[in-house]
Amino acid sequence: MTWLKSVTHTAMEKAAPSIDLEFAEKLREQFGTPLYILFEEVVAAKSSSWEAINQPVHLSYATKANPTLEVLRWFADRGWSLDVASEGELRAALTAGVSAADCRFHGNAKLQSELEFALGAGIGEIIADNMEELEMIASCVGGQTAMPRLALRVAPGVNPETNAKISTGGAASKFGFSWPEGEVIPAWELATELGLQPSGLHAHIGSQIIDLQASKESAETLGQIAAEVESRFPHALKSVNFGGGLGVANGVPSPKEYMLASLETFPRKDLEFGFEPGRSMVADAGKTLYSVAAIKRRQGKLLVSVDGGLSDNPRPALYGAKYDVEPLRKSAQTESADIFGRHCETDLLFEDIQVPTDLEIGDLLLVHGTGAYNATMASNYNRFPRPAQVFLRSSGEVQLIQRRETYQDMFAREILPR
Ligand SMILES: Cc1ncc(COP(=O)(O)O)c(C=O)c1O
Repeated sequence: MTWLKSVTHTAMEKAAPSIDLEFAEKLREQFGTPLYILFEEVVAAKSSSWEAINQPVHLSYATKANPTLEVLRWFADRGWSLDVASEGELRAALTAGVSAADCRFHGNAKLQSELEFALGAGIGEIIADNMEELEMIASCVGGQTAMPRLALRVAPGVNPETNAKISTGGAASKFGFSWPEGEVIPAWELATELGLQPSGLHAHIGSQIIDLQASKESAETLGQIAAEVESRFPHALKSVNFGGGLGVANGVPSPKEYMLASLETFPRKDLEFGFEPGRSMVADAGKTLYSVAAIKRRQGKLLVSVDGGLSDNPRPALYGAKYDVEPLRKSAQTESADIFGRHCETDLLFEDIQVPTDLEIGDLLLVHGTGAYNATMASNYNRFPRPAQVFLRSSGEVQLIQRRETYQDMFAREILPR
């Protein structure tokens, strides 16, 4: 099956093309719904727009946004390194054929066993988060000759305008060494004493950022930290990473504007600079196809339930996230409906969506912008099997990259004692 003839192309930079009803029916027939659909063309367009900055920057894909093996391999093939935040994400990268040397290890509470695994695999860089972790790394490294690059994660004390649940750079943040609390220089000292040769600074102040002011403030603070490090440890600092975080919504800054806000604010130009976007790489490239499973009218309002819900997209419940929803069967007459999932909460997914007045059970709804933090956050709540994921390649080929979970998969790790 190919998809190229079945789409309506829009500006590829901004949004994925939409698919038509006939093609969506074929996808449902072959793969079932709910179904995650990822458009390679859009991931490629997003990557190009990050790469288009006319200066050398190190680009890492934040695995957590969509850690499907084929997606990891795709970014690695393109020359991006991978930001991994757990042993599981590192193992996913390795399983996808990515070298550990091309992975950078994050996490605010890394386990000794994870550090041992990462070091044993030959991890390229560790972004250390706390004093105890520095001691753990030193104890793991022991006689090992190849010590990876070491950066310190810093909480600069900056609060971007975003949902509090994804704001990570403030003075009260659980992440990294707090600059306002005076932890950064002692951490650099300890890392040096332990022989870990720290060489990088890293700050990721949050996600869904559309406000360049916060990025500038963070870069300015990193500049102060860099100056302090330089005065105490001349020439030790080699790299600064400004994290990920670029939001997806209408009117967000371009990747270039986003990067320049940090690069132009940071006072030094003689270091290696890096970014690690996740959401902005894949969110617009993904869509979810649902079938309508129930329709009711309550107090005049149309309530539509689809065959998925918070188990395949917990973001509306977690963050009040909003999505564009497109009914694929078109109709001259539409009305507003609230779209629910079929879980045992209210599970309100999408509010005030225009749907055909004659909407029927089995009609297909396409939800745009679900490529990030959906498949990766999916669960088996209510014993729902997690959806399949297809990759629509630029060549026109439709490739299954994650099959639908089976009930056998789900029960495989459970034990009935006696
Ligand atoms: C350290 C780090 N880097 C990068 C990212 C990616 O952020 P985003 O998906 O908003 O670009 C995250 C997200 O949690 C993160 O914690």
